[in-house]
Amino acid sequence: MSYQTILTEVDGKVATITLNRPDVLNALNDQLMDELGEALLKFDADDNIGCIIVTGSEKAFAAGADIASMAKRSLQDVYRHNFISRNWGHMQKVRKPVIAAVSGYALGGGCELAMMCDTIMAADNAKFAQPEIKLGIIPGAGGTQRLPRAVSKAKAMDLALTGRMMDAAEAERAGLVSRIFPKADLLKEVKAIAKDIADMPLLTTMMVKEAVNTAYETTLSQGIHFERRLFHACFGTNDQKEGMAAFMEKRPAKFTNS
Ligand code: HXC
Repeated sequence: MSYQTILTEVDGKVATITLNRPDVLNALNDQLMDELGEALLKFDADDNIGCIIVTGSEKAFAAGADIASMAKRSLQDVYRHNFISRNWGHMQKVRKPVIAAVSGYALGGGCELAMMCDTIMAADNAKFAQPEIKLGIIPGAGGTQRLPRAVSKAKAMDLALTGRMMDAAEAERAGLVSRIFPKADLLKEVKAIAKDIADMPLLTTMMVKEAVNTAYETTLSQGIHFERRLFHACFGTNDQKEGMAAFMEKRPAKFTNS
């Protein structure tokens, strides 16, 4: 598949998608979001892939939605064409783990795209912001909803109302980022983590993702009930038998993703 705005690479069971519009700091335009969605769904459907990384350049994960392509749009146009709903929802259809590896700017839609991933790992130069307010708009790809869930209402309000940038250390303290690495090591480290995840039993990693994401959509008792049923379902997999047998026999497990 040849793409114009992203690069894709497969190494063993890990797929890496690199946002690639360097001239505009990976500003997210329609074509990029179409291509990203297509690549994500392709890797999700590929039985040989166990984990997907989404990353950008050292300077920018993504500096937001493409302002040049939004500047002249009207209410009638964005409403009629359901702006961003058409191709920003693909990430939510992916059932395998997706890691955002963020170096440099993750601003506006870039921050929102990172938050759509299952976890965010950052380089020490990463900067996160929801600067939309300075453009006369509010975040439109989940920033007002995912950010408070990730960091707290106080910090989400602070960030969305001021548009200020939050560095990697603050983002980790606030809970937005799970780990920080030196910028030069980010991709190597995240690829190693992705490989570890991809070597886990696939059905179980998918169930973990589904269960954790359910925590954001339901009450505690319904979430616990859902988790319990998926936990029971694990006992129907060959990989539960293999994982536990391997432990008892003191040998490495050989998972078959079945
Ligand atoms: C279009 C962008 C862009 C963007 C940068 N560029 N961000 N183009 N959309 N979001 C372009 C610049 O115009 C410039 O092009 C080139 O990238 C390099 O950017 P510079 O500004 O020259 O770089 P620098 O001085 O290093 O500043 C970096 C920056 C700044 C701090 C990241 O570019 C910036 O503030 N960008 C906008 C960030 C932002 O407001 N994002 C939110 C967008 S709204 P030229 O041609 O001049 O070289 C949004 C809404 C989401 O995301 C809603 C749902 C999708």
